Amino acid sequence: MRRVLLLLFLAGLALAGPFSSDYVVEPEEDAEFALRDETGKDEEDIREDSFESDLLDLKDAEALEEDNEDLDYTSEEVAALMLEMQNPCDRHRCKRGRVCELGTDSKPVCVCHDSESCSTSEGMDEKVCGTDNRTYDSSCHLFAHKCSLDGTKKGRKLHLDYYGPCKKISECLPNELAQFPLRMRDWLKNVLIQMYEQDRDGTSFLNDKQRHKVKKIFEDEKRLKKGIHNMDLLARDFKKNYRMYIYPIHWQFAQLDIHPVNRYLTHSELSPLRAPLVPMEHCTTPFFKQCDNDGDRKISLEEWGRCFGLLIDDIEPELVF
Ligand SMILES: *[C@@H]1O[C@H](CO)[C@@H](O)[C@H](O)[C@H]1NC(C)=O
Repeated sequence: MRRVLLLLFLAGLALAGPFSSDYVVEPEEDAEFALRDETGKDEEDIREDSFESDLLDLKDAEALEEDNEDLDYTSEEVAALMLEMQNPCDRHRCKRGRVCELGTDSKPVCVCHDSESCSTSEGMDEKVCGTDNRTYDSSCHLFAHKCSLDGTKKGRKLHLDYYGPCKKISECLPNELAQFPLRMRDWLKNVLIQMYEQDRDGTSFLNDKQRHKVKKIFEDEKRLKKGIHNMDLLARDFKKNYRMYIYPIHWQFAQLDIHPVNRYLTHSELSPLRAPLVPMEHCTTPFFKQCDNDGDRKISLEEWGRCFGLLIDDIEPELVF
């Protein structure tokens, strides 16, 4: 849950920062690897849930036992009975775009979500643009469609591209592409500093280790004031205060590398950052594309670091936490 909040915050800042626009979106994970259940919870929540329901089961079982003292059920028997009465789907997780149904022998199976049953909140425009440049009513519709194409090349290639209806995205000129990492670096640093400041007011966006890292950046008097800076200034600041940028770049990588944690970012993992950004920053797609130096459709930590101008010796897996 905290992760989701963090991303929300991040996207919020994306909109408020140098990457500004009035467009407000809620980040949504396009998650091939994020095994979510139907309610959209992520793995951690599900684990917690089943723990909770285990407790409930026990309590219910005890209560049942009391009620049925005459019947002489042992608590194990009661627990087994309770389990039998439970819908096996309650604990079965499906990928996005799929829902659990009971198949033959009442075994839970994941089947494609019928897009007809995708709910769209009233008054909320949840349209998303797919990588097929087709507008879907919501990400639920997109993933249901992806599921229906299961096993096909088209299906494999379909991802959530960005929030909002598909639109014409203007061409990213070479000089704009060159400026993109400068602005993004500065923005990442500001996001962290802002989180650090908020933490002092009692919220906790950062853990102790992260706070320790940001403290140095925060206390550095040479840091650039928040705001929009011209590119020359950003470039000079990066040269002069290079070390201040190292951690924020690693930090962003760590935020995204979660499904699974393997030092590679897939399209799905990049999505929380990309999807809100693409409609307002036309260089987003070309930028991340060129980050993938070896063209394997994944961005390694090294590719990520280089892409933001870090020297190879400063790209450290130990900083990804
Ligand atoms: C994607 O669709 C939009 C809206 O229909 C259109 O304006 C745009 O040119 C399309 N982009 C590409 C790359 O085909």
